[in-house]
Amino acid sequence: MINDLWYKNAIIYCLSVGAYMDANGDGIGDFTGLMRRLDYLHGLGITAVWLMPFQISPHRDDGYDVSDYYGVDPRYGTIGDFVEFTHAAKQRGIRVLIDLVINHTSDQHPWFKEARHDPDSKYRDWYVWSKKKPANANTGMVFPGVQKSTWTYDEQARAWYFHRFYDFQPDLNTSHPEVQAEILKIMGFWIQLGVSGFRMDAVPFIISTKGADVREPEEQYDMLRMFREFLQWRQGDCIALAEANVLPETDLEYFGDDGDRMHMMFNFQVNQNLFYALAAADTRPLVKALKATKPRPATAQWGMFLRNHDELDLGRLTEEQRQTVFAAFGPDPAMQLYDRGIRRRLAPMFDGDQRRLELAYSLLFTLPATPVIRYGDEIGMGDNLKLPERNCARTPMQWSNEPQGGFTKSDKPYIPVISGGPYGYEHVNAAIQRRHPESLLNWTERIIRMRKEVPEIGWGDFTVIPTRDPSVLVMRYDWRNNWVLFVHNLDAKPHEVNFSVGLDGDNAEHGKLLINLLAEDHSHAGEDGKHRLVIEAYGYRWYRVGGLDYLLRRTEVDEPLHPKMG
Ligand code: GLC
Ligand code: CA
Repeated sequence: MINDLWYKNAIIYCLSVGAYMDANGDGIGDFTGLMRRLDYLHGLGITAVWLMPFQISPHRDDGYDVSDYYGVDPRYGTIGDFVEFTHAAKQRGIRVLIDLVINHTSDQHPWFKEARHDPDSKYRDWYVWSKKKPANANTGMVFPGVQKSTWTYDEQARAWYFHRFYDFQPDLNTSHPEVQAEILKIMGFWIQLGVSGFRMDAVPFIISTKGADVREPEEQYDMLRMFREFLQWRQGDCIALAEANVLPETDLEYFGDDGDRMHMMFNFQVNQNLFYALAAADTRPLVKALKATKPRPATAQWGMFLRNHDELDLGRLTEEQRQTVFAAFGPDPAMQLYDRGIRRRLAPMFDGDQRRLELAYSLLFTLPATPVIRYGDEIGMGDNLKLPERNCARTPMQWSNEPQGGFTKSDKPYIPVISGGPYGYEHVNAAIQRRHPESLLNWTERIIRMRKEVPEIGWGDFTVIPTRDPSVLVMRYDWRNNWVLFVHNLDAKPHEVNFSVGLDGDNAEHGKLLINLLAEDHSHAGEDGKHRLVIEAYGYRWYRVGGLDYLLRRTEVDEPLHPKMG
């Protein structure tokens, strides 16, 4: 296969326009401001941004309640500003992905307004209604503890409507051909304005059968193929990145056996087990998750992340594992959310300890996936637990120690800038960190630069190398006659590890030399062909196997050429 599927080795950065940079001084970030920060992003080395929803919305769920899919919310600017932005991003080689929130609309969307007041309107069928209160109305809530039900009575319509999420987010009847046609039209519109793809919100719910009489919802996976085909016909490099927190046995239904459905999916399975591994210094469940999510079509890719804009959902761990993660990273109930997760930012979870942040990021950048980083995490931003639900980790980017962290000239930002304390903008900001070579920001920039020179991670096949020490993860990637190897010690104390690289035949000789890509200590195997290394607390190593002449040895085709990995 020709290696030009850009998303297989991208570095994705996710941000909210409103929280990034306010150019016009009204206290809310906007596209003009974001555009002025494109050089910062370019310098950091990211290759794609994922923008959280910026379409017109009453903002009761931070824009995940859209009331017009074909416009830019005026608080962020105009369609003109958006196009200027995608153009400027393109000039810097940065692709733009946007959130596509089409499982539901806002209850203020004209479609819903018309649907509820006129039973004969064509929009009536665009939503999901029931004359009587469905028996399962009090089940299936996505936000337990905050959201009371999944069906709400509407006085105007004199009927109950279905909402998988909050009651102001009525579900679209996504099985309806007209709704599907509209979804494609929305995609086509934004592609025309310069985007390279969509982060598809809530995919399992979009494809699920919906209705009062649906006892056991079924996924209509074929819909995913329809989305994929449309994207690729319109623009060959356009992708869909699915938010689907599903069990590994259904992964292939989402990717499609022949890679004909979603290009990418977030790997929630690995994410949760990674946090458990970091909390317990036990990599065994993580390795299991890596193996369980390994099979995928060669053209498909995982999106890996540490934290995102939502809570860290630990719902797939065992109760005991979940309690271990809570105890380590979010012991206070105020840090937890929806009975299943932690709402904090990354840095406070690690007590701001840069060694642990580097370890976590080093794992993020070397696991078999495209890394997705969250704005502000590159400088170790904190959270504001006084803000409700997930808003605590959505505060404005901290640019400098000037008023409001340099985010706005207004003294009333729409959401307060974190100020005072260890994570206040006075100490934690991009400007200060830029001046310090060892800052997290400069470290991140260097690690991204190195990650780009290790395409084996995105393209190759991985092997977990056994070490008999559950605190240490050793992984090797093979691609086109080149190999890289990563060692991570998740424990708070140093460990000594023994392992052999595991190459055989003619390649065994290469396995005896490991060149450290980040520091001077290289490793030569002993007489027995094994490497022996002492790795410090929270230490990580990035090695090239066999020497730095690897580019001279790289082959031009994949060998053996398997249609499917794993
Ligand atoms: C997804 C989003 C979340 C949003 C929800 C409803 O889970 O990530 O932020 O609240 O969908 O659209
Ligand atoms: Ca503004």
